[in-house]
Amino acid sequence: MVKIGNLTFNQPPIVLAPMEDVTDLAFRLICRQHGADIVYTEFVSSEGLIRDVRQAVEKMRILDEERPIGIQIYGNRVDSMVQAAKIAAAAKPDLLDINYGCPSKHVAGSGAGSGLLKTPELMEQITRAIVNAVDLPVTAKTRLGWCDGEITIVETAKMLESCGIQALTIRGRTRTQKFKGQANWEWIGEAKKAVKIPIIGNGDIITPEDVVRILTVAQCDGAMIGRGAYGNPWVFAQAKHYLATGELLPEPSLEERVEVLLQHLDLSIRYKGERRGSLEMGKHYGNYLKGVHNLKYLKAQLRTLTSYSDISACIQQFLQHSQAEHERLLSTLSA
Ligand SMILES: Cc1cc2nc3c(=O)[nH]c(=O)nc-3n(C[C@H](O)[C@H](O)[C@H](O)COP(=O)(O)O)c2cc1C
Repeated sequence: MVKIGNLTFNQPPIVLAPMEDVTDLAFRLICRQHGADIVYTEFVSSEGLIRDVRQAVEKMRILDEERPIGIQIYGNRVDSMVQAAKIAAAAKPDLLDINYGCPSKHVAGSGAGSGLLKTPELMEQITRAIVNAVDLPVTAKTRLGWCDGEITIVETAKMLESCGIQALTIRGRTRTQKFKGQANWEWIGEAKKAVKIPIIGNGDIITPEDVVRILTVAQCDGAMIGRGAYGNPWVFAQAKHYLATGELLPEPSLEERVEVLLQHLDLSIRYKGERRGSLEMGKHYGNYLKGVHNLKYLKAQLRTLTSYSDISACIQQFLQHSQAEHERLLSTLSA
């Protein structure tokens, strides 16, 4: 059994990774419906929250249907992180997560996110202060260290545990690696051996088999999936089924993929309005419709449309046309 704060899981939890501009309310709901055990918001700027910036506040909008959910915050100052943690706690998530992994120049360059790997004393102060300030289980997400020569994850994990966090997600890459190279799951295992809190392994988990592999290699308590869930929310239920039975569920059919794409679109429009909600779906179409013939052409068409009915009709017509074309070709070949 895995316990994170008040949450308990009989199997290793399979978690949706926080991803900026991806894990919005609509996508989180879709992933929860397909079996994600915990979902996280995109990271939210502590300074943005304090200044009541609309985009930051909007990212914290959560619904009961998506619980358990964690709100993730980032920043580089103890006072503003504590203030932001209290604001986030008022939105009543199940978990509050601190980002110690973002590698971007804008974030890490200002000493926040993975930038805090360079200042572990400040990371400790921020974590301790947040744990003391909020009445919520606090979790954190970090990387192996700053670079190959500075793998500090074992010390970081011990220090964060001593501050009172309830679980730690470790992405098996350094800050310098960003997204490059292969995630190193062995180092996640080294950190796991050094602490008692649950460790969630992350990095390059795409298939149910990858989930079993990371749990085996790192002996970690759960797995977090990011890019593997793009256009593929089924991966959560598939991984859980595979863990429980050793059997692989069949891949969703094209009809199922279109159905979930349209549900996702509907939610996106419901929570962001028709124009913005449909435009922001642009990045998801290709993922749901992977393998469809002439996808580039279809995506270009979809990007010009901004209503649910037009988008739905365009996809259905395109697929019917492709099917008819396919059957026509087959009949000429067999004639
Ligand atoms: C588009 C995108 C946005 C991301 N935004 C965040 C974020 O807001 N907070 C965070 O902790 N990690 C963020 N990440 C990192 C992911 O949570 C995850 O650690 C990373 O993608 C590796 O996991 P994967 O190989 O399963 O994708 C982001 C990743 C991507 C691809």
